[in-house]
Amino acid sequence: MSHSLRLPVMPAGSGSPASPGKKLLEGDVTPEEVVVAYHERTKHHYHRYAASLGQMDWATQPDPFRRYEGAQLIRFPLSDTRRTLPYWKIYVPGSVAPMPLSIDSLSIFFRYALSLTAWKRFQGTTWSLRANPSSGNLHPTEGYAVLPALDGVHDRPAIYHYAPKEHGLERRADLDLTVWSALMAAFPKSSFLVGLSSIPWREAWKYGERAFRYCQHDVGHALATMRISAAALGWRLFLFSGPGDAGMTKLLGLDRDADYGHAEREHPDLIALVTPAGPDGPSSISRGLPEETLSQAEAGSWYGKANALSPAHGVDWPVIEEVVRATCRQSKTPTSEDFSRFASEEELFGAPVRSGSLSAAKVILGRRSAVSMDGTTSISAEAFFRVLARLVPTSDRRSMPWDAIPWKPRIHLGLFVHRVRGLPPGLYALARDPDKVETLRAVLRGDFLWQPPPTCPSGLHLYLLKEGDCRALAASVSCGQDIAADGAFSLGMIADYMDSLVTYGPASYRNLFWEAGMVGQVLYLEAEEAGIRSTGIGCYFDDPVHEVFGIVSRDWQSFYHFTVGGPVEDVRLTTLPAYGPERGNLPDPTVPRY
Ligand SMILES: Cc1cc2nc3c(=O)[nH]c(=O)nc-3n(C[C@H](O)[C@H](O)[C@H](O)COP(=O)(O)O)c2cc1C
Repeated sequence: MSHSLRLPVMPAGSGSPASPGKKLLEGDVTPEEVVVAYHERTKHHYHRYAASLGQMDWATQPDPFRRYEGAQLIRFPLSDTRRTLPYWKIYVPGSVAPMPLSIDSLSIFFRYALSLTAWKRFQGTTWSLRANPSSGNLHPTEGYAVLPALDGVHDRPAIYHYAPKEHGLERRADLDLTVWSALMAAFPKSSFLVGLSSIPWREAWKYGERAFRYCQHDVGHALATMRISAAALGWRLFLFSGPGDAGMTKLLGLDRDADYGHAEREHPDLIALVTPAGPDGPSSISRGLPEETLSQAEAGSWYGKANALSPAHGVDWPVIEEVVRATCRQSKTPTSEDFSRFASEEELFGAPVRSGSLSAAKVILGRRSAVSMDGTTSISAEAFFRVLARLVPTSDRRSMPWDAIPWKPRIHLGLFVHRVRGLPPGLYALARDPDKVETLRAVLRGDFLWQPPPTCPSGLHLYLLKEGDCRALAASVSCGQDIAADGAFSLGMIADYMDSLVTYGPASYRNLFWEAGMVGQVLYLEAEEAGIRSTGIGCYFDDPVHEVFGIVSRDWQSFYHFTVGGPVEDVRLTTLPAYGPERGNLPDPTVPRY
């Protein structure tokens, strides 16, 4: 008979109250020390949350849409020739014939990656939702593209900002053909670049000091939506490990004081290569951009002035600027890791998935966060294993979206299984890197069982740790949110934190959140395909989660939570299409949901 798993008694006084204005650390400190101080300071504890305003200052609510006034807007066509592509195909390398690069294919790329997917209305208030999810629906992430001359877009290479409300590109700068050629010389024909940046104020307005974490989660989700979108077009996407932040800033024009004035600044996150005719694996591509050409890009003609997002800022949360600086990427940091001990597709899934009921468009554009879960829906063990198998890279490094990033998994799962048919409820662990099973055994509680479920595919390193009803425990550590208890399962993403900082440097703090966001995005889509739903959970009590899994070392930290299960629809809301005449003339404000 199963019993309830409870949290051990919390040690008193873990963490002192944060004082919002105070610097993270005084004196001569390393960036790694700043990162660790930020992470500790922005933990939620049972007895206090990380510092934030504690209320909504509606007068300064940030505009979710950045625009560059004066920059030409090229609206994308809304037709979608990929409508009927089966969802399962996007995971099978070589099964989607690459679409030529054109305004139509680019339109689909941005539609599936970063566009609006619906407007919601409730009692006279309307807000938009997007293909990429965002903590509090605040959307700190901005998208960019660097494109060659393209019919219907522009007659020369240029740098663009993506405008989601209009589903179009704003032309920020023209590029000399020679600069474009030098920039792209190492890459296959018809390749182009995409970039992401963050405006932390959008998240900090509501979440205060913890906001930097949420910005980085959102970048991870958006990196995954871009990779997945590329897959639906038969394209590939590779994250560059260089240029550093300074080079990205130049390329995206983020340091152009005259263009920003008093508008909120963006800090650069990443640049990735999108390539219609991809090389076979990530190791075969040069992972950098020639830094010297980035200054030449900066010297081109620029257009447009950024809009201010809030009329004023109440509190600016200076620790966010500190952690932004500490995690700044200096320059190219090449990573070449050995995936040979990872499982093959057959070993991970049992049998490769070559069927499914939904189209990619339906899954990607229909993805939604569950606002509450029904507390009854269960899933089969087979469906559970399949969802988890999608989260693990394969030995050939071609499994999507993991082929986009060069590092081995640093995020592992501590699962709260509630309603999976054929499996006892309880705590489970999934090691996403086979070489980390023994390390995790040593890190987690000593008396855990470490029993592989009998029907689990051999390549999936999933283990039962402890049997029991962990619904109350899961909700309790997820800031008391019932969605963590009422799903079929929920989970904490346990990061190999300190070793990542030591191995790759302080900028890898961001990468850990990106990887967690990517895991989350795959969970979102797999839940849709399985006919259920999921929700990202950024609000959780950090150290209590560690206690559940018996983690005493500060070296391992929970970076994100998720829940997956049967959703309860909020029937009071009216749903309207994202674009087109049916949308009518809706006002713009976005209302955060939780
Ligand atoms: C990083 C992150 C953290 C989130 N944290 C929570 C949370 O703690 N609780 C919750 O109910 N939803 C959470 N969400 C879900 C968002 O509220 C949701 O993504 C947003 O409202 C947009 O809705 P959509 O996902 O349906 O597009 C989170 C989402 C993200 C990406």
